[in-house]
Amino acid sequence: MQAKLSRLAATEIDADALVLIEFEGGRRAELAGPLSALYESGEIKGKESEFTLLHGLNGHKARRVLIAGGGKRDRFDAARLRSLAGAAVRFLKPKGIPNLAFALDDGFNTPAYAAAAVEGAILGAWEPDYLKTNQTDKDKPIDSVTIVTAGGDAALAAALERGRVIAEAANLTRDIAVEPPNLLTPLRLAERARSVAEASGLAFEMLDQNRMRQLGMGALLGVAQGSAAPPAMIVMRYTPEKAASSDHLAIVGKGVTFDTGGISIKPADGMEKMKYDMAGGAAVIGAMQAIAQLKPRVAVTGIVPAVENMPGSNAQRPGDIVTSLSGRTIEILNTDAEGRLILADAITYAKQLGATHVVDAATLTGAIVVALGHTSSGVFSNDGDLLARWMAAAKEAGEKMWHMPLDEDYRDQLKTVYADIQNIGTRWGGACTAATFLKEFADDTPWVHVDVAGTAWLDDAKSHMAKGPTGIPLASFITLAMQWQ
Ligand code: BES
Ligand code: MN
Ligand code: ZN
Repeated sequence: MQAKLSRLAATEIDADALVLIEFEGGRRAELAGPLSALYESGEIKGKESEFTLLHGLNGHKARRVLIAGGGKRDRFDAARLRSLAGAAVRFLKPKGIPNLAFALDDGFNTPAYAAAAVEGAILGAWEPDYLKTNQTDKDKPIDSVTIVTAGGDAALAAALERGRVIAEAANLTRDIAVEPPNLLTPLRLAERARSVAEASGLAFEMLDQNRMRQLGMGALLGVAQGSAAPPAMIVMRYTPEKAASSDHLAIVGKGVTFDTGGISIKPADGMEKMKYDMAGGAAVIGAMQAIAQLKPRVAVTGIVPAVENMPGSNAQRPGDIVTSLSGRTIEILNTDAEGRLILADAITYAKQLGATHVVDAATLTGAIVVALGHTSSGVFSNDGDLLARWMAAAKEAGEKMWHMPLDEDYRDQLKTVYADIQNIGTRWGGACTAATFLKEFADDTPWVHVDVAGTAWLDDAKSHMAKGPTGIPLASFITLAMQWQ
């Protein structure tokens, strides 16, 4: 979708639909006359998710005008605008609207609002129906969104482009995450990453099973051995032209293309959802595409350990002890706690590649969904400074995050007499013991772990977003890199 900026008056905009925001208790001057009946009858109240669609409104060049309720004006912010833009797109999309315009009134013509409107529109347009063969079931694509604003400076145009790049990258992440597990094997995921890297000028490397054996990635290989589909370690590198420092940020995403649980097999009910167990990895690939375009002043390496967790005849067993890339031995007590195993080797590998800071994103535990539901992602860290940067980036990006504890007490749960560490703790605080396991491998490298098991997938469509993958925490990844000092 194209994003354009126009400084024409809203009435002069030639578009298939022009969206105007009305707040609770408000009455837009230019509409007060022609729409007085609608206002007086209470049909336009300005409440959130209230839409009033008008055709051929007098005095407007646009073929349709959509009055979109913004709710209470003093509670309106960029995040609300993002949702409102998405909801407006989803309201209009079935009607066939190739060119959409969005008016930002005085007070809202800032870069943050402009970016949010574009982002919301592009995110709202996405659908998970790429394998439906009947084209008549599908909405026609929206070709362009024009942000209409009086005044505004060059920063506004840059913000528009930033919003477009981030949202297109989020939709790429969602395209990858929604692919069914028979089509998206670890090697296919690596091929997707390779084509993204080639198209955006990133360096790309894939470690295959043999290379991983040579290096000693026993924790990852133990998970992979139950599947006929070979694993891949995906590496995408961005090098800035002028780095602000010698820092090297690694973003690492769990890439389990399907998680049956392995020998510790999961119940059948709902198992199909485990195709999104690579959502963290997909977010890394999408973020790397955006980073290549937005060019932050820090070196960023995207790493995705990709495996399928299957209970094949060669699968690892509870009781197996594997040697990780770090040299530490791990006793496998539950083969369904596989994400932490592949991430242990990926985090160690990130450090071997010279990462000074590591952020990982993973659909790691059901326990984080119990703790936080589907609203906030759980954040764990061994470093106050990186944690603060991450939380600030997430806030700016509009992705909700909640800081969770890491404590020596959780480490006690991972003690075993047979190896250096075991891969599960007790039933309680499962998200915290999983994070504690990862912390062991991050060691003293500043690290943040984001558990997105509850937030990477929407079970039911929202007014502003289709059901399926959300892209979280891609926008935070990008914002973190862009804000790096
Ligand atoms: N991929 C799952 C976690 C998950 C659960 C993601 C629900 C999304 C939604 C992970 O590999 C897993 O199976 N975790 C186990 C860990 C347990 C065996 C210690 C879990 O959470 O039950
Ligand atoms: Mn699992
Ligand atoms: Zn998993």
